[in-house]
Amino acid sequence: MSETLEEQTFDLIPLLAILEEYKNQKGAIIPILQRTQEIYGYLPKPVLKEISKRLRIPISRIQGVATFYAQFHLKRRGRHLIRVCDGTACHVKGAMKTVDVIHEQLQTPPNGSSPDYKYSLEIVYCLGSCGLAPVVVVDDKVYGQTEPDKLVRQLKRLE
Ligand code: FES
Repeated sequence: MSETLEEQTFDLIPLLAILEEYKNQKGAIIPILQRTQEIYGYLPKPVLKEISKRLRIPISRIQGVATFYAQFHLKRRGRHLIRVCDGTACHVKGAMKTVDVIHEQLQTPPNGSSPDYKYSLEIVYCLGSCGLAPVVVVDDKVYGQTEPDKLVRQLKRLE
């Protein structure tokens, strides 16, 4: 049976280096969480517990900050973030077909990740490029007038 995330162990050495760097700065929880997320890719609970213990800040407060800001992720994410726009312009041009094809062919459900954590899929509402509908953003790259099968072929080529 695979270990749960809670049981999973994390290398805390990089975290200790971050905490050391901010040790004289009061109220540095946001930059600490930003740096922590850069290292681990998200904010795993055991790592948050360690921050709580070392900074003597209740875990509930740290989780409160982490859930308040959209930039923080409490769930492990894939190496590539696929954001499919389902705003009105993209919706009428078939955005949900793209979502279905990604789900089916890359085993990546909406607002979830593929089993190998290569991809995560998010549905967003208007990326401000309606003229290019349907729009998908993969990591930082914008794909306009997407065709689901072609997009999936491009996604499969990513490392
Ligand atoms: S609706 Fe998709 S970019 Fe505006």
